[in-house]
Amino acid sequence: MQTKVLKINSADIDNICIKEAAKLIQKGELVAFPTETVYGLGADALRPEAANKIYAAKGRPSDNPLIVHIARFEELVSIAKEVPKQAKLLADAFWPGPLTMIVWKNEKVPYETTGGMETVAVRMPNHPVALHLIEESGCLIAAPSANTSGKPSPTEAAHVALDMDGRIPMILDGGPVGIGIESTIIDLTERVPMILRPGYITREMLEEVLGEEVCIDPGIIAADSERKPKAPGMKYKHYAPKADLILVEGQTDVVVEAINRLVSEKQAAGQKVGIIATDETMERYNSDCTMSIGARSDEDAIARHLYKILREFDDLDIEVIYSESFATPRIGQAIMNRLLKAAGHQVLTV
Ligand code: TXA
Ligand code: MG
Repeated sequence: MQTKVLKINSADIDNICIKEAAKLIQKGELVAFPTETVYGLGADALRPEAANKIYAAKGRPSDNPLIVHIARFEELVSIAKEVPKQAKLLADAFWPGPLTMIVWKNEKVPYETTGGMETVAVRMPNHPVALHLIEESGCLIAAPSANTSGKPSPTEAAHVALDMDGRIPMILDGGPVGIGIESTIIDLTERVPMILRPGYITREMLEEVLGEEVCIDPGIIAADSERKPKAPGMKYKHYAPKADLILVEGQTDVVVEAINRLVSEKQAAGQKVGIIATDETMERYNSDCTMSIGARSDEDAIARHLYKILREFDDLDIEVIYSESFATPRIGQAIMNRLLKAAGHQVLTV
């Protein structure tokens, strides 16, 4: 299959491109498109055979449910068995935006889309290309991140092309995404609302809007947790780079010194070593494969660059990567969640 890449200006949407993409969705085909978080791989959410094509293209296990993307709140109402009171509050505050809500599904949603589950994940993305595509197709669009299963999520169309070329008919290239890590997932089917995946929308932001406590799925916190994560996708080693990734945690000067020493040791043993640094520390490392993830004070930039850097290290055939730690105040938890998973929870405290 030939993959057509259509460039599309988010500030001035070309309706001809959107129409062409929407036709493919209506025919049950796949289209990759930008959202504000990461690129998604979309198909008609209410058609089993369309959902199945997503799993095939990604090489994704079929028990890992998809997020249904909508353009209007009523579309959530149309596929939910019941609409929890919190859903309206959260939608008013955060939609369109990087928040996914889990609700009980009704019979319209096929089990292919929900990976056999009785619940469905729903999100209204804050990206003009995504919203136009949903509106124009007249479909609800199931879309996981548009990467091959096991690779970092794509934050630009070129990443999608590397993973999906020849496997899908179309990629809408709307340029690099704004946020760079996947949406926060909140489960509204529990007595206490529960975060299944941390993201740009934090627990504090959710609690403030809901006026009640929000908990975090214990299954996603510890490496050796007895409990399995409730979101099936969080149990897979999702964001694994080819290299062995080790996070080094501690006071900056000590971290820099420790990483330099470890790098020298590995290099002496003939290994190809990379470093994930920040603008502030970049010059202080003595490996030729040092990449800055951004300024430490700029959390948004760190989130935005994370997956791109992991992909770049993959291309360089690096064997070991040492990374600084980024437990920054706001989205640090989301960043560390992704990094810890990529590192298989290897953390060195110095
Ligand atoms: O930002 C995002 O959410 C991006 C963009 C494209 O919207 N999408 C995304 O989808 O990250 P995906 O498929 O890569 O991740 C969806 C996660 C998986 O971990 C999946 O297991 C979980 O959501 N999930 C989906 N439906 C669920 C459900 N009914 N119950 C629990 N977890 C669910
Ligand atoms: Mg994904």
